Amino acid sequence: MIDTLLKAAVRDIADFPRPGIVFKDITPILKDAKLCDAVVESFIERLEGLDFDMIAGIESRGFLFGLMLANRLGIPFIPIRKEGKLPSKTTKQSYDLEYGTATIEIHTDAFAPGAKVLLHDDLLATGGTLVAASKLIEQLGGQVAGFSFVISLDFLKGRERLMPFSKKLISLVH
Ligand code: PRP
Ligand code: ADE
Repeated sequence: MIDTLLKAAVRDIADFPRPGIVFKDITPILKDAKLCDAVVESFIERLEGLDFDMIAGIESRGFLFGLMLANRLGIPFIPIRKEGKLPSKTTKQSYDLEYGTATIEIHTDAFAPGAKVLLHDDLLATGGTLVAASKLIEQLGGQVAGFSFVISLDFLKGRERLMPFSKKLISLVH
């Protein structure tokens, strides 16, 4: 099962990026091409029946499987980036995450109003990042069709904060 394989691959790094945080390091997954394929295929199975026309992924770890998945499905990928990186006109949101604060941006012409967007990231912790990204999607007239992430840290209760945007949450490992 994919969750067993992922639990074996993901490394816990204590006190990174600051004391008290147990950081889930996904880099060992990326070294294993077969496991990367299995991750993408597991997302595809779980997304069966969900109506969406593009995937937005969050810099930087949300780009990894987000783009692989969009390519595999033959649909557009939209990068949501940290402040100051996107070259054209943007809209932005600031937020708190498990270990700090940040600001993310999206190009204002990233999609047509009414687009159904799957929001993808590597990991759900407090949900601050995905809530901010959902607000950006909605500000541009899009609809959050669902969320996908590789890992969910359930004890941080991020899931509850995502419910107002979409109830469709896909996590490969808890
Ligand atoms: C990490 C992770 C998620 C976010 C989750 O990103 O990739 O985007 O934190 O935390 P939250 O649920 O508490 O918001 P980070 O900002 O560290 O950026 P990175 O992907 O560039 O490492
Ligand atoms: N993003 C937020 N919290 C995290 C954690 N504990 N490990 C990896 N990425 C994270």
